[in-house]
Amino acid sequence: MTDLAAAKGIAVIVTAMRDDGGQVRIFDLAAANGAALPAFAPGDHVAVQCGAGIVRYYSLWGPVDDTRVYRIAVKRETESRGGSRWMHEHVAVGGHLMISPPRSNFPLAAGRSGYFFISGGIGLTPILAMLDALRRQGKRARLLHQCRSPADLAFAPELRRLGADHEIEIHVDSLAGGFRNLAADLDRLDVATEVYCCGPAPMMALVRAHGEGTGRIGRYHFESFAAEPQATAAENRPFVAVIASTGQEIEVAADETLLVALKRAGFEIESECEEGICATCATGVVAGTPDHRDSVLTDAQRAESKFMMVCVSRAKSDRIVLAL
Ligand code: FES
Repeated sequence: MTDLAAAKGIAVIVTAMRDDGGQVRIFDLAAANGAALPAFAPGDHVAVQCGAGIVRYYSLWGPVDDTRVYRIAVKRETESRGGSRWMHEHVAVGGHLMISPPRSNFPLAAGRSGYFFISGGIGLTPILAMLDALRRQGKRARLLHQCRSPADLAFAPELRRLGADHEIEIHVDSLAGGFRNLAADLDRLDVATEVYCCGPAPMMALVRAHGEGTGRIGRYHFESFAAEPQATAAENRPFVAVIASTGQEIEVAADETLLVALKRAGFEIESECEEGICATCATGVVAGTPDHRDSVLTDAQRAESKFMMVCVSRAKSDRIVLAL
C-alpha cells in the first residue's frame, strides 16, 4: 500500500468542522501552503491518509468553482476498520492531512435530457455536487434519497436548498420499505435518462439488477467506496501471468493476489486501497480472460477487459497476458 505522502499527495489543513445528522462530520480543507487547490468536477473524490497505512475515499461536494476549499463528509461507521474512526477522533480544526488530487470514477454526463439520482445515507455526497451543477445549468433532476431515521438524515439544509430547483423525495425507512416502488420508478424513466446511484450495497445491487434486466445498464452509473462482496479464497485457483514485453511467466498461487506475485517478481506496481476500489493498480490486459473482482470498473469496461485491478482480480483463463 502506498502512503499518499510518497505518492504526490497534497498537504491540507482543516479550516472548519461541523457535525451533521447520521454521525456525519463535515470537514473543510484548504491547501496548507495557501495555494489554490486543483479544480474538481461533480462526482470527483479524494483519497485521504487516515493514519499510517490507511487510505479512505471521500467525495468532494463543496462549491466546484471555489478552489480555496474542499469539503468532505465522513460518516462514523459503527464497524469502522479504522478510517472513519480516525477522522472523527484524531482530526481537529488546524490539523494537517494528506490527500490525493481529485479523481473521478463517477462523472456527470453532460447535456443529457434527463437525470435520475438514487442515494442512501452518506452516498448522497457526490450527488449533492451533481445536483448543484445541474441547478447552475438550469436543468431539473429527480432524487430519491434514503436514510434510516429522521435523526439519521444529514445534509438537510443542502437538500432544502436544492429542492427549490429539483424534485427531491426523502424516504425515512429501511431499504425494502423505502424503495418499495423503485423498480416501477425506474421502469417509468425515459430510456435516455442517466441514472446515478451511490449508497449501501443492497441498494446498488437492486439498481444494477434493474439496469441489467432492462438492457439499460449503459446509462446507469455507480459509485462505491466499499469493496463489494466477491468470491471467497476457497474459489481461487492458480494461474499464470505472462509479461507481454518479455514473455516472462509468473505463477500466481491460489492463496496470493496477482499484485503480490508481480511485486515478488520485481515489478513496481503502484497500489493504494488493495481492495479494488481506487483503480491505482489498473494494469493493461493483452490476452486472456480476467476474473474481475473490483468495485470500480463499469460493466462495459469489464466486457472490454482492457484493464484489470491486479490487487483483487484474477484470471478465468489458465494464462493472462499483461501489458507490462
Ligand atoms: S490498489 Fe486500489 S484498486 Fe487496486
